[in-house]
Amino acid sequence: TVEPLDAVRFISNHSSGRQGHAIAAALVKRGARVTLVSGPVNIPDPLGVAMVHVGTAEQMLAACEAALPADIAICTAAVADWRAREWVKGKIKKRPGDTAAPTLSLIQNPDILAQLSSHSQRPGLVIGFATETDNLEANACEKLKRKGCDWILANAVSTDESDGTVFGNAQNKVLLMTGNGQEDWPLMPKTELADRLVQRIIHTIGAVNAES
Ligand code: CTP
Repeated sequence: TVEPLDAVRFISNHSSGRQGHAIAAALVKRGARVTLVSGPVNIPDPLGVAMVHVGTAEQMLAACEAALPADIAICTAAVADWRAREWVKGKIKKRPGDTAAPTLSLIQNPDILAQLSSHSQRPGLVIGFATETDNLEANACEKLKRKGCDWILANAVSTDESDGTVFGNAQNKVLLMTGNGQEDWPLMPKTELADRLVQRIIHTIGAVNAES
């Protein structure tokens, strides 16, 4: 998401949107009806989805809630954790002779994954991602519990361009935590990861349906 500071400036996160788009496309390929809520990205909308373009985290939350009821929610977005307490309608100007930088007052954005996980119309399967630079396993495990989702796909991100896990890369490596155990998936193209996740979902939902 992008959070405006004034008419020309904003704060945001690194994210290409590729993983979320790939998962939406993989679900469509397997016959799912998909609503894709996306922040601003530079990739085309996948074919066959109901597309909702949003800017801010608050808009993204509203669009996700409007898409309920749903069987599955998958939260891949790099939601900006904070927004400006007040944003200025015009452009914040530098005053002649004033070299001091302005102080930004930020407030926390809603946690969309946590809100969907505790929603009265909670989807049967809620899946999140965890982006971590340190302590991948412990942080992801804590996030799974804190946010109340069913699965977390934990991503180790690095700023080292040589290791293939930087933002915007076509490949991704995740640790899938389901609450019952974990699986270390190898580095693979984001499209392949999407197909594998959808396979895993179909397998799980099939098992749940067979039990009921
Ligand atoms: N997420 C969300 N709403 C937010 C922040 C994150 O829905 N305001 C979702 C992301 O889409 C992802 C999961 O929560 O599925 C974890 O996001 P991540 O950025 O790894 O963690 P944060 O919740 O931002 O926690 P921290 O910054 O402390 O790592």
